[in-house]
This record gives sequence, C-alpha cells and structure tokens, in this order.
Amino acid sequence: MSYKQQISKRRTFGIISHPDAGKTTLTEKLLLFGGAIQTAGAVKSNKIKKTATSDFMEIEKQRGISVATSVMGFEYEDFKINILDTPGHKDFAEDTYRTLTAVDSVILVVDCVKGVEEQTRKLMEVCRMRNTPVIIFINKLDREGQDPYELLDEIEKELSINVRPLTWPIGMGSGFKGIYNLYEKNLQLFKSGKTKINDDDIISISDLNDPLLDKQIEKGNADKLREDTDLIEGIYELFDEELYKEGLLAPVFFGSAINNFGVREMLNTFIKIAPEPRPRPTDKRDIDPYEDKFSGFIFKIHANLDPNHRDRIAFCRVVSGKFERNTFYHHSGIDKKLRFSNPTSFMANDKQILEEAFPGDVVGLYDTGNFKIGDTLTEGEKVQFRGIPSFSPEKFRQLVNNDPMKSKQLDKGIRQLTDEGVAQLFLQELENIKIIGTVGDLQFEVIQFRLLHEYSAACSFKPLNYFKACWITTENKEELEKFILHNKRFVTKDKDERLVFMAESAWALKNRQENFPDMEFHFTSEFKTDQEYIKQLY
Ligand code: G4P
Repeated sequence: MSYKQQISKRRTFGIISHPDAGKTTLTEKLLLFGGAIQTAGAVKSNKIKKTATSDFMEIEKQRGISVATSVMGFEYEDFKINILDTPGHKDFAEDTYRTLTAVDSVILVVDCVKGVEEQTRKLMEVCRMRNTPVIIFINKLDREGQDPYELLDEIEKELSINVRPLTWPIGMGSGFKGIYNLYEKNLQLFKSGKTKINDDDIISISDLNDPLLDKQIEKGNADKLREDTDLIEGIYELFDEELYKEGLLAPVFFGSAINNFGVREMLNTFIKIAPEPRPRPTDKRDIDPYEDKFSGFIFKIHANLDPNHRDRIAFCRVVSGKFERNTFYHHSGIDKKLRFSNPTSFMANDKQILEEAFPGDVVGLYDTGNFKIGDTLTEGEKVQFRGIPSFSPEKFRQLVNNDPMKSKQLDKGIRQLTDEGVAQLFLQELENIKIIGTVGDLQFEVIQFRLLHEYSAACSFKPLNYFKACWITTENKEELEKFILHNKRFVTKDKDERLVFMAESAWALKNRQENFPDMEFHFTSEFKTDQEYIKQLY
C-alpha cells in the first residue's frame, strides 16, 4: 500500500460522553464489528467504577488498565480505525481534553433519559475550540427517554451545534420498535440482546406509504413515523458533509448500544464522512499529514505506579511522514536527538513493538523522564505543535514539604508529575509558596502517594481558597507593574515562568478586569489566541 493510501485509510477518533451514557458499551460494539474482539466483555475499559471514587489506588489500578486500551485499532471495510480512549471520571477530565488534541473527529454519546449532562457540555466546549467534527449517538432507546425532538432541541441549545438526524426512532422504552434510516430509506426492527446484525434484519421501504410499513410496525406507529419524517424534513436542513467537517453540524443516530442496535448505521456513515488525518498547527507553520518528513506530538504520559518499573509511556500522535523504529528524531523540549528501540502499539488488549507508523496512528514511547505533554518530535525541523493547552485548574492547595531533608526529591517529583499533566504548579515568590492546581480532588491524593512511593518525598497540603488561575499578559508595562504591586499575594508564576493571577472569587476576577483594562486574562495556557489560529486552519 502506498504511503498516501496508508494515510487516506486512517480514521482516528474519540468517543466522549458523560459517565454512564454508554461510551464503553459502544466502544466494545464497534470493536466487535471490526473483529478486533470476538466476544462482548473482552475490553476491560478504563471506566472508573462509581464505588471507587474514594479509593484512588483502585482508580489508579483501573487507570493502569487504560494503558492497554489507550488506542483501540481495528479494520473495517478497508479502513484502519483508531479509537483513542478517554477516561470518563470527571477528575481526569484534563486527560480527556488532551486526548482530544490527538483525534480528528469524535462520537458523542448522549443518554436519551438524561439528555445533555455536565461532562457532555464541557467536552463539547473543547471540541468546539478546535472545530472537531462530531457525530452524535443517542443511546438507550430501550428505556423510556425524553421525546426525540426535545432531546435534539436541548442538544442544539446547550451544546451550540446544529444537528441533523440521519436515523429516527419508532417508539421508545417498552414500545421501542426500531429505527428508520432517513437517508438509506430502510427500516430496522428492534430485537434486544443481539450481538450481530444480519443484512436480512434491514427492510427496505423507500416509500413510507408502502402498506408493508403498517404490517411491520403497526398502523399507529407507521402513521407517526410518516408524520415525523415530514416534520424532520421541515425543521432540519439536509445533511451537509462540509458543515459536519467544519464542526458546525452534527449528524444524529439513535440506538441502543447494549443491544447492538443502530450502531452499524452509525459506523457505516462514520467511515463515509469522518475526516482522514488532518493538518496540525505549529508555532511556525501548519504541518500536513502528506508531508514526507515525520512529525508528531506527545498528548498523554502514563506513569508506571510500580516502583520497580519507574518508566513511563509517552503517547505520540503521528502528524506527518512515517515514524520508524530505531531512527533518531529531534525532541523539541530538550533540543536533542532521541531514538526509540521499542516503540509500541496498543491495540485492544494487544501490545506490539512496531516498526513503522503513519499519520493518524498513536505510538507508545518508553520514557525515563524526558517527555512532557506537548513535546514535539520531528526529523530535525525546530517546531512546536500547538493546541495542547493546560486548562485553568479549579482546585488549589499549597504544597507543604514534610521532610526538609528531601526537598530535592520533592522538587524533582513535582516537576515530573506536572510534566505528565497530573497537576499544574504555580510559584508564589512573595512567601515562597508552591501551589498545586488540579481539575479534581483525587489528584491531590495521587500526588501525595506518588511523591512518597516514587520519590521518597513526604508532603501534605494546606487548603487554599482560590476560584481560578488565569494567565495574564499585557503590552502596557506600567499597568503590569501596577497590577503586580497591588496584587503581590495573588501573582504567581507557572513552571515556564509565565505570570498567573490567582483569583479568589469571580468578583475578584471581574474587579481586576475592570480596574486593569489593558490586562488580558487567559483561561488556557496557550493564550496566543490559538483558538483563532486553529479556526483559520480548519
Ligand atoms: P460509560 O462508559 O459511558 O460510563 O458507560 P457504560 O458503557 O459503562 O454504560 C453505563 C451503563 O449503561 C451500563 O450499565 C451499561 O450496561 C448501560 N447501557 C449501555 N448502553 C445501554 C443501552 O443501550 N440500554 C440500556 N438500557 N443500558 C445501556 P451498568 O449497570 O452501570 O453496568 P453493567 O453492570 O451493565 O456493566
């Protein structure tokens, strides 16, 4: 297969959802279709069980499993599909945001009973930042859910995206009869508990006035479907693939993942419309996947919790060219050449050394502490991929060293943990305070445990009452000096020495924004309006 064919056949995407909407179940069904697994239940997901919320060791154990399922690849109809797994637990939301930098599109799962939920909103915000194309799967139609029109309205309003249903449900819950494919014009009758869909389950009904429809789903349901299809044509514009690719329009499918129902329709449309590996912006220029020279970036680092194996795995998304084993590549973060003798692919429970990888693929690189999130690998060009920001953390605590003899270990440990993206570190120079910022409470326990077990450094935390940390910039030097003078206690530096304002409350932030009109307050670390930049590109 030619290099160009290798790229055009790849589809790399993520499945996102609020916990419990059915992401794991859907992933598994997709893998079944692709033949990557043979039986349901074969994928041990990185789903973090509800019962484990107070037991972070259990969570880390489960996260350990996620290394194996970080990338799940399978072949379907001549396409090589890579699903990048994203943790569902909200305390690890930042992992998910970063993984979304490495996908070209997403499938969003919505529970038809619960509709749009908190995590659905947050994840979609991240997708909108990059105009990531989205397909929506409305799940659990075998349950009494919300009215489909209301669900679609809610999605459009709350997620700020236009939708276009491509299939439509007939009934719901105990009265769920099946779905009608509005484009292929066929009917699929619901049977629960199926593990396979045979072609003969699909009944072609191109004219909805065909009496066959009444025979299949009873007259009442048939009349309702006729009414619904008229209404849908009236309300929604025809599906436009270009708008989907720009992230402005989401096609919607209805189904029941657990019953493997409605999944094939979505997969078949996915391979037709989902984008192939897309270009990515760097600080100097955009890099196209079809360029000859290899480039890629690190979007996730997974540490080994076992103290006997201190190595970590850095996950690299290949952006352009061909990645080859045992070849020297330039590492942007340390400005050195490195080569990898055991690059690994993680494919649905199967770990293999790989000789080569193409744009869209993810390579696992064993690392002894060289990598941090966002590092770029190239054949020599000194560029840095963008669009892999740190988000403003929501929880803050002061790091306290419990053993002054071990302050070196503590410094090293905390630096490495923040490189991995476990948390962010801010230094308040006035009182020489180290502030740790995270997205969830659990990370504090993880940090404390790992510092002690991996770096022999004992620490504790003092609570801090901050509302947000925002990066500050301005062209107005005088105003900056004034700002720092008036807010000494609240001005810190991140580990790249950039200034960060720690706001105690929404009011405090608003107050500073009003009093210092020339200052800019940024909520992600890549504030050079990457959003603008990325929008231009896609
Ligand atoms: P997640 O990864 O998004 O967190 O969700 P997951 O797939 O684990 O699904 C959450 C729960 O919803 C599971 O039940 C799963 O069986 C159920 N589920 C998924 N798809 C459907 C569907 O189409 N219909 C119905 N009725 N349920 C569905 P659980 O009881 O939490 O776990 P389990 O004991 O079944 O594993």
